[in-house]
Amino acid sequence: MPTYRRIVLASRPAPEQPPRHDNFRLETLEVPTPSNGQVLVRNLWLSLDPYMRGRMGEGPSYAAPQALNETMVGGTAGEVVASKHPGFAVGDQVVGQLGWQEYGLSDGSRLSKVDTRHVPLSAYLGAVGMPGVTAWHGLRRIIEPKDGETVVVSAASGAVGSVVGQLAKQSGCRAIGIAGGRDKCRYVVEDLGFDACIDYKAQDVVKALQEAAPKGVDGYFENVGGEILNAVLGQMNAFGRIALCGLIASYNSQPVPIRNPSWFLVRRLKLQGFIVSEHMEDWPPALKELGTLVATGKLKYRESVADGLDAAPEAFFGLLAGRNFGKQLVKLG
Ligand SMILES: NC(=O)c1ccc[n+]([C@@H]2O[C@H](COP(=O)([O-])OP(=O)(O)OC[C@H]3O[C@@H](n4cnc5c(N)ncnc54)[C@H](OP(=O)(O)O)[C@@H]3O)[C@@H](O)[C@H]2O)c1
Repeated sequence: MPTYRRIVLASRPAPEQPPRHDNFRLETLEVPTPSNGQVLVRNLWLSLDPYMRGRMGEGPSYAAPQALNETMVGGTAGEVVASKHPGFAVGDQVVGQLGWQEYGLSDGSRLSKVDTRHVPLSAYLGAVGMPGVTAWHGLRRIIEPKDGETVVVSAASGAVGSVVGQLAKQSGCRAIGIAGGRDKCRYVVEDLGFDACIDYKAQDVVKALQEAAPKGVDGYFENVGGEILNAVLGQMNAFGRIALCGLIASYNSQPVPIRNPSWFLVRRLKLQGFIVSEHMEDWPPALKELGTLVATGKLKYRESVADGLDAAPEAFFGLLAGRNFGKQLVKLG
């Protein structure tokens, strides 16, 4: 019988500590045969995403924890290799939630066919997938950018942040990124077309923001939290809007408090947290727009690709520590 590999959650990381290799276990199983109504998919790409760190723990969250000894949760892109489902045929390219494994069975309910003639399959896990829709929702629905305004985004070279800044530019805004390191900042400005980028590892963020945003900040798309949030809050204009998308700086450590809540009152700020999977009505229009932009070369993206399923844990640790440069993927096929 042919076999395939999967990675299961073997144990939970200690709260506020980085995950470790012994939290994962690589297993080999027989490739299953689909029953009536099922599809067998060979996964070619696995998406690694920061939310997986939350699922590994048991702390209070918007989603149930990942079960122990079960395949790690994750977005996948691949090809149908056997089908007993009327909606899918062998050879269809699909995206789904089949997890950290080389093959997966689906009943078709969370599986979508995608068109790879103009958009590469892997992009459906990035700019034309969940991270892209996250950027679209937070920017369009919460920040609601207006022509001439200044929008700042943290983790600016990453899967979500890179889309936020490019969409903000297309809305006529001044787009300012915050990213870790000179190479990431150079990419954000020179390749993605942001107006400026602040290297938070080398620069004083407050001072650099005052220079890059002399008229203040109208919209802030927050991916990171911690001291970066405090730095940007102090530069917000009256009636500024903050889309609280992620707080990756504290996923493996203690949360950093907001230093001065009076910023919200005095500047009449709005801060809205959101979870993209709770806004399914936005997915079709967002994916349509993002797909067209990528297909026509108007939305750029970059990928960090780890090779093979056994490389997934190390690549995941890298994502949480900023060693990725663009959307973190694992190439399975
Ligand atoms: N709310 C939702 O529905 C939703 C959906 C998707 C993603 N998210 C959130 O969006 C954020 C970005 O996700 P992504 O998939 O696009 O990841 P990403 O930006 O491609 O990769 C994560 C980046 O976070 C930055 N980072 C890591 N640790 C940091 C620290 N201590 N301080 C500052 N920056 C740090 C690193 O960039 P630098 O090297 O530039 O620091 C790293 O490359 C995450 O917070 C994620 O949880 C939320």
